[in-house]
Amino acid sequence: MVRYTLMHKEVCVAEMELDETTGYIKKIGELYSAEHLPVGIAVKKNIIDRAALNEWWIDRSIPASRSGIKQALEVFELSNTKVLLMRCFGLSLSDQYWIRSRETNITWKEINFFDNPFSEDIGDVLIGKTTETANFDFRSPDNTSDGCLKKRWESIDGKRCLVKGGSNPFMQQPFNEVIATRIMECLGIEHIPYKVMWDGDKPYSVCEDFITADTELVSAWRVMQTQKRDNSTSVYRHYVNCCEALGIKNIVHSIDQMIVLDYIIANEDRHQNNFGLVRNANTLEWIGAAPIFDSGSSLGYDKRSNQIVSGKEIECKPFKKTHTEQLKLVSSFDWIKFDRLNGIGDEIAQILNQAGEYMDENRKQAIISSVEKRINDIETIALSQTQVEDDIESDVEENIAETYENNLSL
Ligand SMILES: Nc1ncnc2c1ncn2[C@@H]1O[C@H](COP(=O)(O)OP(=O)(O)O)[C@@H](O)[C@H]1O
Ligand SMILES: [Mg+2]
Repeated sequence: MVRYTLMHKEVCVAEMELDETTGYIKKIGELYSAEHLPVGIAVKKNIIDRAALNEWWIDRSIPASRSGIKQALEVFELSNTKVLLMRCFGLSLSDQYWIRSRETNITWKEINFFDNPFSEDIGDVLIGKTTETANFDFRSPDNTSDGCLKKRWESIDGKRCLVKGGSNPFMQQPFNEVIATRIMECLGIEHIPYKVMWDGDKPYSVCEDFITADTELVSAWRVMQTQKRDNSTSVYRHYVNCCEALGIKNIVHSIDQMIVLDYIIANEDRHQNNFGLVRNANTLEWIGAAPIFDSGSSLGYDKRSNQIVSGKEIECKPFKKTHTEQLKLVSSFDWIKFDRLNGIGDEIAQILNQAGEYMDENRKQAIISSVEKRINDIETIALSQTQVEDDIESDVEENIAETYENNLSL
């Protein structure tokens, strides 16, 4: 058992003991700052809900469903990804939490990854570049990165960037990110811009860190832990309620924009950790909805061309099980300037042309025609739809991310 202080930048939050072999929080000691606890962790009579804090802590580690993680753990000679957290102080490039061993008095300023360099060793292994671990340095924000696709943080031209792969056999996600970027640019939706970068014969998407040393991303999942949801409240309504209680302005509009984008690109993986809010990590003031990121699991990324055309079996998250149902939640389409999307087919063709052998002509046409059809759908609906009263009938029941391990062949 090792004794740590849970830290939020330079603020001491609570004392805790971690089990070195499992990575779990075994015991929680004194609470110094309930305010600075991660969002949605309950405190009763000055006692932190340990199960909830463990869930938060474990969620910080690389998910067991990460593509290639088994091989990476063999290289590290570790049994699980949770123990990696302890080797990088639990630091991340998406928020400001970390842990400090009680034997040290190291400061956040000295070790945070926003201002200080980090090791590329973990990233090299995670991306499958090396299996060499001599003189290995574990201090990397990759130890706290979420999501199932192979990815790493890299410093490119002095900027922290997330470099993320695609899944077999089409490697389509990096191109989808660029297409989504372009659609959001046209529609004026606040977003993180992505580019494609090649490493050998593999495409990757690259985006800059949108979090700084003074902000942090709080996922919708965490936001939804701030209140109890009763069985008659839909996931959508619950999220809006939680955001409004936190004082977030205009959340309905931000969600409208996300739902419309996800309809157009047939996004299948907008689970509750793929959107959220941003707050000031010093003052804890809420800044607003996070810009849209992670839109790659879309445009039939794992489907055959004819399935893309038919549009059947497209999954939908986070609110409703189908995109048609989810689109009914949109309260206003007035902000959409449809004419801005006029040339989008040609632009998509240009983006997909860069995919080389991963993309044949049939597939390209299927993607373009499905996007054009879905834009037309929205245009039609926008003319007629009035928002309906939401219920839980067609709600998504669980918050589960897409995994790609079985997508090796079709
Ligand atoms: N540009 C970014 N800046 C800061 N944090 C990010 C950024 N992009 C993603 N993240 C964080 O990293 C996590 C994983 O990235 P994501 O793009 O969702 O990968 P995946 O496609 O594998 O789910 C996200 O859930 C979010 O917490
Ligand atoms: Mg994600």
